Amino acid sequence: MDLTTTVLMVLLFVLGNVTEGEVLHYNFYDKSCPQLENIVRAGLVPLFVTDPTSPAALLRLMFMHDCQVQGCDASILVDPIEGNVSSKMASGRNFGIQKRELISIVKSMVEAACPQQVSCADILILAAREAVAMSGGPHIEVPLGRKDSFTAPNYQQADAWIPPATTGVDDMLHIFTSKGMTIQESVALIGAHTLGVTHCASILNRLYKAEGDKAHQEMEPGCEAFLMLNCPEWSLTSNISFVLNDPTAFIFDNLYYKNAMGGRGVLRIDAEMVSDPRTAQIVKHFASDWDDFFRAFSSAFVKLSTSGSLNQGVIRKRCNVLD
Ligand code: HEM
Repeated sequence: MDLTTTVLMVLLFVLGNVTEGEVLHYNFYDKSCPQLENIVRAGLVPLFVTDPTSPAALLRLMFMHDCQVQGCDASILVDPIEGNVSSKMASGRNFGIQKRELISIVKSMVEAACPQQVSCADILILAAREAVAMSGGPHIEVPLGRKDSFTAPNYQQADAWIPPATTGVDDMLHIFTSKGMTIQESVALIGAHTLGVTHCASILNRLYKAEGDKAHQEMEPGCEAFLMLNCPEWSLTSNISFVLNDPTAFIFDNLYYKNAMGGRGVLRIDAEMVSDPRTAQIVKHFASDWDDFFRAFSSAFVKLSTSGSLNQGVIRKRCNVLD
């Protein structure tokens, strides 16, 4: 910890903004904000109805891009200061991240009812679990009581921790099992790719530079032709053009696994899980057992959302600024 951070921490303690030693639990806001979950849900419904791409964006935002770097502490929501590349958002690994502003909208609704009680980190977790439930996935009970970071991690940390689009099964299992997940839970978590899209820029490597790559060879020829047609190698629009992650990209179902088994997984991880001996049977099982997928996804969601969460920190007034 550098001198500035230490001084800041002391100051925050003095101002009484930092709470210490509380642990996450399921009834955390029962007294301080009993209507919290209803406010979050009611706030998100119109946002999801007007933009059906939002649930996928919020789910991705929470997991890989907040929780994966220094724990679930809402640091992904902090705006980069102009000309300053120190924020997590400045990392290239955050490509495709969107809808951070939705959390600020919900936060202002929560603040109106329960001023200075609820962290942005908890709102982000609640929003992600609503994204899953409202898309047809399981309703997941999550423990609450996280605090927000009072610093924003820099882009080097984000670069180091966020897995790139070329990640395979080895690295994926390493990431999730080191957070206490079983292999089954890890495979379930990647089932989040049942929602949303992948931009062409994220698969150009897989399509054009991975000759000899196992996952590349195992792509179903029709799917490969489709992806190449939609994502030409030298296109200038690869950052904005995209393909669906599975044919029912707005519905949280197990079609993702069936699709991947047919050689139509979009990302390398989607394809590799089908053939890797550690994950193949689990993919097959989830493709036929919807309930088990939902069960494993729910427990993985709770594990990921609690790993490395701050119970020391602040409750930011505005999610996008450190004030
Ligand atoms: C090793 C693990 C993972 C890798 C390498 C990975 C990689 C990616 C990439 C490259 C994209 C496309 C980004 C773009 O081009 O816009 C993506 C999309 C997505 N990822 Fe993952 N991901 C991983 C794990 C996860 C997990 C654990 C979750 C959540 C539980 C998740 C949820 C999503 C969602 C919902 C989308 C679609 C986002 C949207 O439509 O806005 N991913 N992922």
